[in-house]
Parts: sequence; structure tokens; C-alpha cells
Amino acid sequence: MKITIIGTGYVGLVTGACLAEVGHDVFCLDVDQRKIDILNAGGIPIHEPGLDEVVARNRAAGRLQFSTDVAASVAHGDVQFIAVGTPPDEDGSADLQYVVAAARNIGRHMTGFKVIVDKSTVPVGTAGKVSAAIAEELQKRNAAIGYSVTSNPEFLKEGAAVADFMKPDRIVIGHEADETGLQAQAVMRQVYAKFEENGHKIYWMDVRSAEFTKYAANAMLATRISFMNELANLADKVGVDIEAVRHGIGSDPRIGPSFLLAGCGYGGSCFPKDVQALSRTAQEYGQDLRILAAVEEVNEAQKQVLGAKVRSRFGADLKGKHFALWGLAFKPDTDDMRAASSRVLIEELLSAGASIAAFDPVAIEEAKRVLALDFANRPELLQQIRFVDSQDAALANADALIIVTEWKTFRQTNLASIQAGLKNAIVFDGRNLYDPALVKQAGIEYHAIGRAV
Ligand code: NAD
Ligand code: UGA
Repeated sequence: MKITIIGTGYVGLVTGACLAEVGHDVFCLDVDQRKIDILNAGGIPIHEPGLDEVVARNRAAGRLQFSTDVAASVAHGDVQFIAVGTPPDEDGSADLQYVVAAARNIGRHMTGFKVIVDKSTVPVGTAGKVSAAIAEELQKRNAAIGYSVTSNPEFLKEGAAVADFMKPDRIVIGHEADETGLQAQAVMRQVYAKFEENGHKIYWMDVRSAEFTKYAANAMLATRISFMNELANLADKVGVDIEAVRHGIGSDPRIGPSFLLAGCGYGGSCFPKDVQALSRTAQEYGQDLRILAAVEEVNEAQKQVLGAKVRSRFGADLKGKHFALWGLAFKPDTDDMRAASSRVLIEELLSAGASIAAFDPVAIEEAKRVLALDFANRPELLQQIRFVDSQDAALANADALIIVTEWKTFRQTNLASIQAGLKNAIVFDGRNLYDPALVKQAGIEYHAIGRAV
């Protein structure tokens, strides 16, 4: 099938590459010339394991092309996926300007029946807005051309995006019940035919329910994390190991053990913005989502937990103290720094006078870019942070090691080498990577999140 993807960011690029991988003829559009140039030169603008191979294979096979040509993109695809960003507006609601702009472009250029797919995470009712924008553009041209807007939210995780897309837990598709809606359903079944053949289930529903499902999923996951973080903070006080508790409750299939890891808060481009956007939708309908307000509040506080532990160990004034920092990205296997907990910690430490030697396996360049913006008003503080190219280099002369991201390589590190590398053998572990008993045995003072040590 001929498919166009509008927006070649994390989701658009992965969607485009993976749909080409199952045999479709895919055209990826972006307004960002730099991104398109990188892709056309054989590069990948983001760090995502395995994505480079899928892109290269499908480009070589002639099934995947990248362009900034809007008219050509609309002409190409019978199916037009909208995968542009939906960042938070000032009031927390999703800013739909990019989605609507994409819809208008489709309306301006289409000459035959199109199935429009909202792949971006968008609030309930957005398909209606997309449909209205297209109708308006068609009317301006006096064109009577059929189309139908469907909702097909994406559930992939950064760092595992290709695997998540190729082997999804579920595919959610919302479509209208009228004649063109049923036509669109048939087209979408073809788009995902290979996935169904491979045993991946499609959940068919109405459009609004599909839109809502995406927010409900992210809100539920964020809630699990904030709930465990609150319990972990209490575990610290009452002398309980939150990891033992996680196994204890997770063995109940109604709860399950995954996504219950306590830590120094969730970050990323989606949980924070989607929790806010769902709360905002509720407010628009006169309902206060009290649980989600608490989820957000707990998470903001949790990003400060490491800083608080450091201060309670070393005092409020950290002048003259030097820390090793492992992990900058909001999660492993990505260079994404959006809403990363490391940014809150770095701000706290530098403001209190400390110096930092920071290491991350892939996010250093992105961290430099983002921190330059964070500290635009106090650039002198950035003199106190140095980026180093190995874990060991960060440890040298440090009063303590602070771990913020759960990279596998940190988890696999020999504890003796941490003990030997630091000036003071003290570790603040924001991701509970180690067994407290083994850390103690290695002669390290250990401050984790809810591990009763
Ligand atoms: P992104 O910022 O990485 O990519 C968006 C891209 O759209 C950018 O490259 C931008 O230049 C392009 N764009 C903007 N307007 C355009 C237009 N009119 N025409 C063509 N291109 C245009 O964003 P992302 O992380 O891929 O997220 C996209 C959507 O998917 C969001 O709604 C997000 O919530 C959702 N989502 C993201 C993830 C994730 O892991 N990143 C997972 C699931 C869902
Ligand atoms: C999340 C969801 O997991 C995806 O299903 C969804 O598609 C995506 O948001 C989205 O809508 O964009 P992502 O943000 O890429 O994916 O990464 P996650 O693995 O969910 O991690 C998010 C944050 O939660 C990270 O900071 C991670 O460290 C933290 N986390 C995760 C915990 O603190 N504890 C856990 O148990 C799991």
C-alpha cells in the first residue's frame, strides 16, 4: 500500500520504517530540512537501537523515502498518518497547531479518497477537528472528495521503539461507523495485515474511545510509578525494602511486577505532558482528576529526592564538594533529555555550589544543548559541570557517585571498581540498580530509593 507519514520524529520515523519493513511503500514528510537531509544522507537524527538497520534496508529496497515536499507527500499516500508533535500548551492542554497544519495540507492538495490516521497522541475530539480542517480546505477549492479520519495511537517506548512497533501488545484503531468509516476500517486492516498474521491483535473501537485509550494507558503507567515512589519514600522511613515489596505484590497477576520500579521520578516527552493533558480535558468537562494531580505532584517532588538525600548527607552548602554523575537521559537507550530527572538534580547541585563530572553512554551532546538552555540566565554555573567519556573518569576525586539513569552498563559495573574509583565510597542510587547487601560488602555507603539502608 502507498502510505505517507507526516512528521518524521521518533514516532513518525519508527512508524514509517516499520511499515516499509512489512512491505508498504512509504513516504516520510517533515518540515525540518535538517532531519530530511540527515536521513537522505543515510544517517538517523535520533538514537534508537536497531532503527538504522531498518531504515537502511528499506531505503535500499526503494520502499522508504524522505522529503519536505508537501504536495508530493499528499499525492503519494492513500493513507496519510499524522505523527507530528503535540506539545503542552501553557495551560497544560495539548497544542494541536501542528496536527491541524498537517490536516490543512492534506485538504489543500488531495485529489482522491484518503484515509487520515491520527497517530500523534491527541485529546478526545481531535479527529473531529482534523476532519473540519480538511473540509474547510476542500470547500475553499470547491472540491468534493471523500475521506475518513481514524485514530491509531502509538504505544512504543523510546529505546525499544522498533521492537515495540514490530511486536505490539495491541493495535488500537478507532474508526467512524458510517460508510466511509467502514471503508477506512478495511484500509487500516490492510495496513496492519502482516501484524495480524503474526498474531498481534487489533482492538477496533470508535474514534473517541481510541483517542482516550492512549491517555488512559500513559496515565495508568505514570500512576503506578508515582504510587511506588510514595511507598518507597515511606519504606525508607519505616525500614522496608521496596524491591522485596515489589516482588511480593507483583506476583499477583492482577498487579504484575513490571513498571513498579521506584526511582528518582519519571521523565520523557510523554508521561508528564499526557498526564497534564488528560487532567486538562477533565477540567474542560467540569471534572477534577484528583488522582492525576497527585501523580504529577509526587513526580515533581520525586525528582528532588536525590538532591535531598545528598544534602542530608553532606549539608545544604555543597561548596567544595565534587560528585560523579552517571546517567543524563530520561531513560536508558536514548539520548532524549526531555523532562529528565538529571536536569533537576544538576540544577540543585550546581546552585548549592557543588561541581560535577557527568557521564552518559549516548546523551552527552544532547545534555550540553539542553543545559545551555536551562542555564541561559546563569551560564557561569555551567563552569562547574564537566562531561567525561567514561564511567571511571567520572569517579575520580568524587565525594560520591550519583546514579540517575538505569543504563544496563551501570547495573553490570563491578562494585569494587566503584569503591576503588571514588574518593569517598558513597553511592546515591536513584534507580535501585544494586543489591544493598552486596554494596555494603564492597565497602560502599549506599543511599537508594526505599531500600531500607
Ligand atoms: P518529535 O518532536 O520527535 O517529531 C515530530 C516531527 O513532526 C518533527 O520532526 C517536526 O519537525 C515534524 N512536523 C511538525 N509539523 C509538521 C508538519 N506540518 N508537516 C510535517 N512535519 C511536521 O515528536 P514524537 O516524539 O515523534 O511525538 C509525536 C507524537 O507521538 C506526539 O503526539 C507524542 O505524544 C506521540 N508519541 C510519542 C512517543 C515517543 O516515544 N516519543 C510514543 C508514543 C506517542
Ligand atoms: C512511555 C510509555 O511506556 C509508552 O507506552 C508510550 O507510548 C510513550 O510513553 C509515549 O506515549 O510516548 P517512554 O516515555 O518512552 O514510554 O519510556 P518509559 O519506559 O515508559 O519510561 C518513562 C519514564 O518512567 C522513565 O523516566 C523511566 O525511568 C521511568 N520509569 C519507568 C520508572 O521510574 N519506573 C518504572 O517502573 C518504569
